[in-house]
Order: sequence, then structure tokens, then C-alpha cells
Amino acid sequence: MIRVVKASKTYNKGKPNQVDAVNEVTLHVARGEMAVIHGASGSGKTSLLTLIGCISRPTSGEIHVAGKTISRLPEKFMTMHRREHIGIIFQQFNLILDLSVEQNVGLPLFPLNMSKTLISERVDHLLAKMSLSKRRDFLVKQLSGGEQQRVAIARALINNPEILLADEPTAHLDTALTKELMETLAAIKKDARTIVIASHDPLVYNHPFVDRIFEMKDGKVVEE
Ligand SMILES: Nc1ncnc2c1ncn2[C@@H]1O[C@H](COP(=O)(O)OP(=O)(O)O)[C@@H](O)[C@H]1O
Ligand SMILES: [Mg+2]
Repeated sequence: MIRVVKASKTYNKGKPNQVDAVNEVTLHVARGEMAVIHGASGSGKTSLLTLIGCISRPTSGEIHVAGKTISRLPEKFMTMHRREHIGIIFQQFNLILDLSVEQNVGLPLFPLNMSKTLISERVDHLLAKMSLSKRRDFLVKQLSGGEQQRVAIARALINNPEILLADEPTAHLDTALTKELMETLAAIKKDARTIVIASHDPLVYNHPFVDRIFEMKDGKVVEE
């Protein structure tokens, strides 16, 4: 489902402040697997996740995701591929605090020209799944941290993605909420979805549902 071949991401190439954030990384994740990218802060986890997530393009190497070689696609098609196949839970959630739960969750579907009725049905389904039905009309800023986390998951799943990516998803959660999140992700994995989580939280990488751990150091995967 995900195949990264000798991929590198260099920021500020050729300048004094050049950073080799991802350095010739090769990795595979099969359909339905849960993988964790583990490593110290600054080791390149987020940069690697943005390559897999079709948010940024590698400086060199190849990225194959959900049947397409995205490293060779023009930007517009890369974005379309992302909207169709990938859901992303960002570290800071990236929710719009002054919009309602319903509006936030439905947001990724607006560029897809879908009918309001269909969007509303999908939102209902996911809010029920995330135990958020009663919060539908609340503004996101009125919710607790755990509820905001679940809104971010619901939004990431709204396009019914084959691949779910999560960047440090437990950074703002206590132990109980972290365990709850991992149970939710395990349930999502059962729908044959492929999950990649960047995290240095032992409650995440020691979870029994994790199939693979990639250890990153200075932009390289040093161990699988
Ligand atoms: N947009 C950017 N421009 C320049 N340097 C960046 C950018 N994003 C990340 N970096 C640098 O790349 C390295 C890897 O960062 P990152 O991928 O965020 O690692 P992690 O998620 O493991 O903390 C760091 O040295 C960071 O400062
Ligand atoms: Mg990061």
C-alpha cells in the first residue's frame, strides 16, 4: 500500500542552512498494517509523513502510495490523490475552532462536489462512531481535548481513506485518552485500512496492534 524507495527530502538545498530531513529512506507498509515511525524530535518523522501523505514532494527517490507513483505526479494530481485515498490527523489537530463539529468534519468533502445530503449522512455516521453525535452543533472551541481529538479523527476518515496517517496523535492526551485513541485506531485498522503513526510515545509503539516500527535517526531509517 505504501512503498518508499530511496526517498530524500532536503530543505534549503544548496544553502548554508540546508537540512537533509529525510535521507534515502526505503520502507514498505502492506495493506491493513499499522506502522509506527519512531525517533527523537528532529529525526525526520513529520517530513517522512508529509511525503507519504502527498503533502510534499521528495527531493529525490520514489513514493508509491495506493497504486500510484506520486513522486512523478504534477502537484494538482498529487493533491487529488491525497483527497481520494489519504486521511491525516495533524499534531495540532488543525481544526477550525470557531466552526461547528459538523462543519469541521465535513470540510475535506467540499472540494469533491458532493451533495449536501450525502455529506451530512457521512458526517452523521462518523460522529456516531466517534461518540460525538450530541456535540454535532457545538463549536470546536467548546470541546474538551479528547473530544477535539475525536473530531480530528472523524475529519480524517470522512473521505473513507484507505490510508490513515497520524502525526504525534497522543502528544496532547493523558494516559487514559491515549489508550482510548489506540483502541479507536485498532478498530479502524480492522476495516483493512493502513495506518502510519509518527510517535515517540511507548503507549503507541508498544501497542499489540502495531505490526512494524521504523526507527529514525538523523533522517535515516536505522532499524525496522
Ligand atoms: N519546512 C522546513 N524547512 C526547513 N527545515 C525543516 C522544515 N521542516 C522540518 N525541517 C527540519 O528538518 C528536520 C526534521 O524535522 P521533522 O521532520 O519535523 O522531524 P520530527 O517530526 O522527527 O521532529 C529538523 O532538523 C527540522 O528542523
Ligand atoms: Mg514531528
